[in-house]
Amino acid sequence: MLAEHSKSKKIFDNGFQISKNADLASKIYGKENVVNATLGIFYNEEEEMHTLDIVNEEYKTLSGRELFNYSSSINGEELFIQAVKQYLFGKNFSKSLGENFSEVIAAPGGSGAIYNTFKNYINPGEVVLLPNYMWSSYKLMSKEVGGGYQTYSLFNKKGKFDLVNFKNSVMELAKIQKNLVIVLNNPCHNPTGYTLSSYEVKGVMNILKEACSLCNVVLINDIAYMDFNNKKNDLTEFCKDLPKNFLLMITFSMSKSFCCYGLRVGAQVAISSSKETIDTFLDASLYTCRSVWSNISKGGMTLFSNIVLNKKKYKQLVLEQTYMKNLLQERANIFLKEALEIDLKILPYKSGFFITIPFKKGDEEKIEKKLKEENIFAIIIPGAIRVAICSIPKYKIYNLASKIKKVIY
Ligand SMILES: Cc1ncc(COP(=O)(O)O)c(C=O)c1O
Repeated sequence: MLAEHSKSKKIFDNGFQISKNADLASKIYGKENVVNATLGIFYNEEEEMHTLDIVNEEYKTLSGRELFNYSSSINGEELFIQAVKQYLFGKNFSKSLGENFSEVIAAPGGSGAIYNTFKNYINPGEVVLLPNYMWSSYKLMSKEVGGGYQTYSLFNKKGKFDLVNFKNSVMELAKIQKNLVIVLNNPCHNPTGYTLSSYEVKGVMNILKEACSLCNVVLINDIAYMDFNNKKNDLTEFCKDLPKNFLLMITFSMSKSFCCYGLRVGAQVAISSSKETIDTFLDASLYTCRSVWSNISKGGMTLFSNIVLNKKKYKQLVLEQTYMKNLLQERANIFLKEALEIDLKILPYKSGFFITIPFKKGDEEKIEKKLKEENIFAIIIPGAIRVAICSIPKYKIYNLASKIKKVIY
């Protein structure tokens, strides 16, 4: 019955199923004996999903009309758009954007923002360039829009961003494609927790500017985890001296930073030195919004702008986010210290929700089974285990590195 192009669609990303298995194991063996490091959701030390007080309080003040009416436009509420710019670039956002043109469109989470970009910038038969360790939805989305994907290698032998491989991968595709869409997931990359240094960001931008002499370049920077960066975020380096055929697309999400996973609010922030590029972005993206999800939750957008545009509420938000960030760092430090002591190799981690442990490719099934026997539940990706430290309390992190080492070797 399915249309031809839908016949091979099947999701193998079984995170939600593994999490259910973890819940089942908790019932059988006791919660304290099970490590559920599966999903990218922040849990507190009591292993309950964490929510922010400022978000709960503000949500309760919203009127029925603010919550349930349609958004006043497909782009999103005007105040939401202003708040997104301010959230990313500060009050002086027009100064940070320099000579560039910019438009913001509300989307259902970061997922919607990325999908919308793939949809309108990948030509049929073209591939998107993804990191070799990645959030698996990128692959699904590239297929969904009729494209394919190739990967660049994230790390060199020194554990730094592999600019050489990145350049080779970009140039190879730039020579044969009209458009080249590239995904960077920075800061706090999922699944490794890596964040590029400013030197590496400059390197990436120089390579992409060079590629602009061969094809149009669209850089998606997925900033879903931006508020867990333990260094200050600076997006301005991505906006400097942009060639006319370069489009920067920052994809924003409320899910992780506001603990609002199910609210489904995010945005595409398009930046280019070409007015025409931004005008056509607006035309095509609004068309896609209208034809796929129409418009975004008015309540979610109002919640965001009410907090971000109010000095006192914003201050409380930052305080609560800092609490989460510090707790994550404490959890990470326990794991990293023990991993170092027992010589367990991990992929370069700076900050964020996940730590990734590589193993020999091909051993995935065996390792998943052995982890389960130890009552450890985590996502197995090709050649690595992703441990979601966002969802496990500190007391369960002690000795986890050594248990994982036993499973791998
Ligand atoms: C790397 C990355 N980007 C984007 C998202 C999108 O999240 P959402 O669609 O909930 O905003 C996620 C969610 O897990 C993610 O891990």
